[in-house]
Amino acid sequence: MSIESKAKIVTTHVLHEMKLRGEKIAMLTSYDFSMARIVDAAGIDIILVGDSASNVMAGFESTLPITLDQMIYHGQSVVRATKRALVVVDLPFGTYQGNSKLALNSSIRIMKETGADAVKLEGGREILESVNRILSAGIPVMGHLGLTPQSIHKFGTYVVRARDEEEADKLVEDAHILQDAGCFSIVLEKIPAKLGAQVSRELKIPIIGIGAGPGVDGQVLVIHDLLGITQEFSPRFLRRYHNLFAEISGAVQSYIKDVKSVDFPNEREQY
Ligand code: KIV
Repeated sequence: MSIESKAKIVTTHVLHEMKLRGEKIAMLTSYDFSMARIVDAAGIDIILVGDSASNVMAGFESTLPITLDQMIYHGQSVVRATKRALVVVDLPFGTYQGNSKLALNSSIRIMKETGADAVKLEGGREILESVNRILSAGIPVMGHLGLTPQSIHKFGTYVVRARDEEEADKLVEDAHILQDAGCFSIVLEKIPAKLGAQVSRELKIPIIGIGAGPGVDGQVLVIHDLLGITQEFSPRFLRRYHNLFAEISGAVQSYIKDVKSVDFPNEREQY
């Protein structure tokens, strides 16, 4: 790899500079080698190995069931494919809440076994001890506030968060707490656009939104949603760039037809 191409690799420092010069940050999820290779080569800034793998890869209804071993497997696959983007791996539910030593051990396993660049945790003040302990080991941490899917059983619903003043104030306070602790960035999920813009203005670190409006420093989507592989999930914040479900289905139907009619394999497709 040449020095020029090395210089293009995205680091937490590069992301900070992007915020300073007002350049928006593009982030997407990936969970496997083939998809990560495409996403990375296309020029994405951050690849998130999200615990949304629990939904889109494993078919669970929430992010809660996915394990640390499974996240490490997905992380390894993505890191193997990624040359340019910063790779962030989600700490799954039950591997950091209420136990900072466990949080540190989980993060060290992710960093050692996947080669990722950072970890992401959901929550504010209540996970501060875990965040501090992970940071003290030199592991970059991305926060996640607003709608935090690992707490779905506490919220009871996936509706927009922080609409009322009390919750909005707590979110702003939590964002400052995470920044002061040393987090390099925060994801804000499904909150009013005005609040997203306020947090982005007040904080020095890059704020990445998913359903947090255009006033934040970057956007993140789940790649399966963007490509139209998932069909049922249609929140207002989602822009679908493709209907890959229909395209893949059409290709599979053509293949079935060709096999049944012995059109495949033809003379050129055999030995
Ligand atoms: O797991 C995930 O995909 C996420 C994004 C929705 C930010 O946390």
